[in-house]
Amino acid sequence: MSDKVVAILGATGVVGRQMMELLEERNYPVKELVPLASARSAGKKLPFCGADVEVREAKPEAFEGVDVVLGAADDATATRLLPEAVKRGATCVDNSHAFRLDDDVPLVIPEINAEDVTWHKGIISNPNCATIIGLLPVWPLHQVAGVKRLIVSTYQAASGAGMPGLTELQREMAAVAAGEPVGETAPFAYQLAANIIPQIGGFNDEGYTSEEMKMQNEGRKICHLPNLLVNCTCVRIPVMRSHSESITMEFEKPISPDEAREVLAQAPGIRVVDDPANLRYPMPLETSDQDLIFVGRIRRDLSAPEGTNSLTLFCCGDQIRKGAATNAVQIAELL
Ligand SMILES: NC(=O)c1ccc[n+]([C@@H]2O[C@H](COP(=O)([O-])OP(=O)(O)OC[C@H]3O[C@@H](n4cnc5c(N)ncnc54)[C@H](OP(=O)(O)O)[C@@H]3O)[C@@H](O)[C@H]2O)c1
Repeated sequence: MSDKVVAILGATGVVGRQMMELLEERNYPVKELVPLASARSAGKKLPFCGADVEVREAKPEAFEGVDVVLGAADDATATRLLPEAVKRGATCVDNSHAFRLDDDVPLVIPEINAEDVTWHKGIISNPNCATIIGLLPVWPLHQVAGVKRLIVSTYQAASGAGMPGLTELQREMAAVAAGEPVGETAPFAYQLAANIIPQIGGFNDEGYTSEEMKMQNEGRKICHLPNLLVNCTCVRIPVMRSHSESITMEFEKPISPDEAREVLAQAPGIRVVDDPANLRYPMPLETSDQDLIFVGRIRRDLSAPEGTNSLTLFCCGDQIRKGAATNAVQIAELL
């Protein structure tokens, strides 16, 4: 790889800051880093490779001379600015939802469908964080047993709602500890400290949220499984970082918990932590600030009708790293 001019759109947010750390950590060949954010942040300094780099306002002209854009902004900003970056010759890896289901945009988890990057037309999308964390253990099991159906419940950290979500949970926890009223709870609809909220995104006519439908719609595209059946419930919990998921998987062929453990132990991007006798299972505190998805509680689905093949597992992963920034930098490395 020759050295690149890399812009980060949304450099001041939780995903953008993590991307900057990862470019450094993974020795991505950066000739020049261009941190971009809203006009509010122009002039701020961010640390990169032992120096301070100045944040610039994200405008179309800011992408002149840029080779790679890592997108870490909201849908509207990505929709407005990434086509301008492509027009100026950059290749974009975007974390927003804006382009994920477009037919001419690959949606990539490198451990699953790395080959899809080859047909990009300037934009490659990074999938939804809960979708990345859930599909990583499902995929290797699918290779041996053929997955048909997923029933998923997620337990999603406050930082999944970005910097505002992270600072709001910190503020609410301090207020609760001090016995003070919590007051306004934006960006959450309700108090999150000492509570859970069974809604992430808006509801559709069937009563599912936009976050829940991503697991089905993005999962089908990434795995090239247009008929994959998914029933997902997404819940926001008062954890700072790292999403957790309970997943029941129905397969075409029989697969035992022991076989699944063996397959997962060999799979890239996964660590099996499954020793109930010694109270070892995945938890958000242990999976934060690293890139592996921890998988445990692997067991037979006691409710599966006779003649069906079904297993249940629990997994956890850092949604800011593998659920967003690490996956995006891995895609940039593939380019
Ligand atoms: N947080 C996660 O765990 C996670 C996981 C997967 C995917 N994602 C996706 O990644 C993206 C970034 O999420 P985040 O959690 O990092 O959000 P965040 O912490 O709220 O950061 C948002 C970033 O977007 C910038 N921005 C906002 N309005 C802008 C504008 N008009 N022009 C230019 N930049 C603008 C912000 O700049 P200012 O600081 O100047 O406002 C900030 O740098 C979102 O699309 C999100 O859905 C997030």
